[in-house]
Amino acid sequence: CEHLVFAYVVIADGAAGKAHGFLEMVLSNLRHRVECHPYLVQTQLVSQCWGRGLAVTAYSPLGSPDRPWVTPGEADLLDDPRVVGLATCYNKTPAQVIIRWHIQRGVICIPKSITPSRIKQNIEVFDFKLTDEDMRVIESFNRNERLIIPTIMSLAITYFLF
Ligand SMILES: NC(=O)c1ccc[n+]([C@@H]2O[C@H](COP(=O)([O-])OP(=O)(O)OC[C@H]3O[C@@H](n4cnc5c(N)ncnc54)[C@H](OP(=O)(O)O)[C@@H]3O)[C@@H](O)[C@H]2O)c1
Repeated sequence: CEHLVFAYVVIADGAAGKAHGFLEMVLSNLRHRVECHPYLVQTQLVSQCWGRGLAVTAYSPLGSPDRPWVTPGEADLLDDPRVVGLATCYNKTPAQVIIRWHIQRGVICIPKSITPSRIKQNIEVFDFKLTDEDMRVIESFNRNERLIIPTIMSLAITYFLF
């Protein structure tokens, strides 16, 4: 976003011709960061971004299990028996399966962890590959469920850009 504002300033300053290369560089490095995980797969938004040359970064890629507003009994992606079952099949953890799903989809995935063993585990996702069928199975877990809704805006938002 700062890049776009800066690019706009350059154009507005009458230097659009000279800024052509710069603009190309900016546009080719644009990323859209959206909430994305198997409960909110964002198929349409992701493909629209790709169609416009935008890379997509997932936020809360593991379903943000430590979000402060989680309610008792609310589904936890990492404990979802279907995810646990797949993880067992691949001899991996549920988090590794989900991270691998993002990567194979082509979505940038930066999970958060403060636990050294999990940080290490979350990097060890390049020694296995989900089958196409399992990729589709995980995509079918979609519930269009947003876990991260800014509470101050939740009453006003109809269309999410993220
Ligand atoms: N732009 C935005 O509005 C926005 C909104 C939300 C999030 N984000 C960004 O997205 C990133 C992550 O989001 P997030 O923290 O909401 O959710 P997340 O990455 O989906 O989940 C983080 C949680 O998963 C746990 N975890 C990580 N690796 C694990 C593993 N291998 N096994 C079991 N549990 C594991 C972490 O526990 P421990 O830490 O205890 O290990 C933590 O509780 C952050 O960089 C954040 O800044 C951005």
